Amino acid sequence: MNVKPDFSKHASHAETAPAFLSVWDIHAYYGESYIVQGVSFNVHEGEILALLGRNGAGKTTTLRSIARLANPQVNKGEIWLDHQPLHKMSSYQASMAGLGLVPEDRRIIPGLTVEENLQLAQIAPPIGWSLDRLYELFPRLGERRKQEGVTLSGGEQQMLAIARALARDIKVLLLDEPYEGLAPVIVDEIEKTLRIVKEQGMTTIIVEQNAVRALQLADRAVILDTGSIVFDGTASEVLENEQLRAEYLAI
Ligand SMILES: Nc1ncnc2c1ncn2[C@@H]1O[C@H](COP(=O)(O)OP(=O)(O)OP(=O)(O)O)[C@@H](O)[C@H]1O
Ligand SMILES: [Mg+2]
Repeated sequence: MNVKPDFSKHASHAETAPAFLSVWDIHAYYGESYIVQGVSFNVHEGEILALLGRNGAGKTTTLRSIARLANPQVNKGEIWLDHQPLHKMSSYQASMAGLGLVPEDRRIIPGLTVEENLQLAQIAPPIGWSLDRLYELFPRLGERRKQEGVTLSGGEQQMLAIARALARDIKVLLLDEPYEGLAPVIVDEIEKTLRIVKEQGMTTIIVEQNAVRALQLADRAVILDTGSIVFDGTASEVLENEQLRAEYLAI
């Protein structure tokens, strides 16, 4: 089992950033609450990383920190995406630099059809997958292109949220609990599309309570516990390590 990588010898992570997406020693707060306590991990290009841990471990906060959202406040650390310093950017700039966050609440825009939700994502460059290609990936969305987005089923809304991220030219897809509340058959369908997206070269971080499903999809896994990394290794190492699963994932 690997321990937390030690980057402390280097003045800046820029010179050593070994990966496509590199998160180095980030510390994040909500007001006085110290949540992410020095988290470092790498994601290689084209890989799927599962970011796991119990409720409240800091997974969403880590994703929000990478996406440079106003809350939490990140006061230390570096985040590099394909040689670009995300830690110096606003959330808007990070999204322009190729970061695609699919938040847990999906944020489908009321009053707009499926197609309008996708078109809105493509209102300005950089544009990613075409609508035709997205409808090929998610045939259910093609069939419902004229339906109001918020009237879709939970699973279809999740598909729309993922499609909307891909409608922009992103370098990394961050998924916060994409399987939450969905029937196993819908999870199968979304998992299948995430594999196709990976085959197209996409780099992905998936946060999931459904750890087994996420580990079946992922190449690597990072486990968080109270804001610190307790495991960084392959997905199969976690699946095979009963003690690790019981201690940090309750599975
Ligand atoms: N906006 C906020 N203000 C204050 N504290 C917050 C806020 N959001 C989250 N927290 C706290 O930060 C900690 C980490 O929360 P986070 O949402 O990152 O956990 P998580 O690993 O995503 O959990 P879950 O699996 O339940 O989604 C929790 O203790 C939570 O109460
Ligand atoms: Mg969360």
